[in-house]
Amino acid sequence: MSSIRTIGSAPHLSGEVHVPGDKSGSHRALLLSALAPGTSSIEGMSPGADVGASARIIQRLGARLEARGPLTEVHGPQHGLRACDHNLDCGNSGTSMRLLAGLLSGIEGHHLLVGDESLSKRPMDRVAVPLKMMGAGVQGVGTRVCAPLNIEGRRQLRAIDYHVPIASAQVKSALLFAALCADGPSTIREDVRTRSTTEDMMHAAGIDLGSVDHDAGRTVRIRPGRPQARRWRVPGDPSQAAFFAVLGAIHENATIKVASMDDAPERTGFVTVLLRMGAHVELQNGSHGVSLTSSSAELHATEVISSEIPSVDEVPVLSVAAAAANGVSAFRDMGELRVKESDRFAGSIALARALGCRVWEEGDDFFIEGRGGARHFASFTLAPTLDHRMVMASAVAALAGRGATLEGADTVSSSYPNFFEDLASLRE
Ligand code: S3P
Repeated sequence: MSSIRTIGSAPHLSGEVHVPGDKSGSHRALLLSALAPGTSSIEGMSPGADVGASARIIQRLGARLEARGPLTEVHGPQHGLRACDHNLDCGNSGTSMRLLAGLLSGIEGHHLLVGDESLSKRPMDRVAVPLKMMGAGVQGVGTRVCAPLNIEGRRQLRAIDYHVPIASAQVKSALLFAALCADGPSTIREDVRTRSTTEDMMHAAGIDLGSVDHDAGRTVRIRPGRPQARRWRVPGDPSQAAFFAVLGAIHENATIKVASMDDAPERTGFVTVLLRMGAHVELQNGSHGVSLTSSSAELHATEVISSEIPSVDEVPVLSVAAAAANGVSAFRDMGELRVKESDRFAGSIALARALGCRVWEEGDDFFIEGRGGARHFASFTLAPTLDHRMVMASAVAALAGRGATLEGADTVSSSYPNFFEDLASLRE
């Protein structure tokens, strides 16, 4: 929180960036490997503090981790994970807390999940309600069931048929982890298809699970079971690639390549939005996933609906693209932004305003009148935030525009410890 970074504008940007391994895939690889008896290995695991929190917690529960060059080996105990007396500290990581709430519900005994100031304000009722229906005890603070979260795990849970009322991969995943210990098959339904990382990885680990897509949604059916140990290869994180895609598009003189990333449809909505705005973004298939190249373009305004960017992680940086575009962009149905690591609804509006844009909000929608080029951005100061994505979106605006002072810049370590180094490598 204490670190301050000053970012100046750059006349020219070019180069190739290797973004960290996907944060979502890394958490799941750790949890599934810890549940599996024997030795699993993970290649390309995210070096961020969020994934580090999950790694520490599974060790508390009895898994053993070993770094072997680029691989992380995870030894899952033969007789399963066990409750421990320690607080399980999730730090800033909502994914750790929600997924582990599901996993711990199926481990007999008492568990206490804690988090930092930001995480302790985030709603956990979205996982507490269905996990209680499955028979676990889940208690937190206030009506939104905030952390610290006390979980009373059971050796066996009740199977559930649950319609997730919001678009949330974390809620879906918490229930899928709990369903592994249920007394029969469970069904989880969502109206908007969120990332299928958990389903795909559970299936790959031998869990009997199938999903059917319908309209914009998906229904997942899962039977209880224990995952098998295996080798995981985590692709590059598309949500991190989004920062470079926007940077390349709004900077006046840039060509930026992101070497390889996951291109799952639920993760690449930001590319569709940028293309609609007139960006020059290309995706190319390679042996390790897809690479992305983004170069300078004149952007025009668009309308973004939350369902095309499920989880809305890329909205803060897309609002920077809107700030550089010609015309008024609309961001609709963005209420979920308010309960992320910070209130990103307010944060995205404040950032666009700091860049000199006219911005207004109506209910869960907000509107940004672009400045017709990042060269017209004002320089600004970002106040400290415990939100990595707000810092990275601000850095992109600063580098393409007229510079900024970012307070609390080291928050990027939650998901991308080398972000500023990678950004600097693009200057010539
Ligand atoms: C994630 C799901 C999303 C996303 C987060 C990672 C995951 O959260 O914002 O960064 O790994 O499942 P929600 O499920 O709250 O949308």
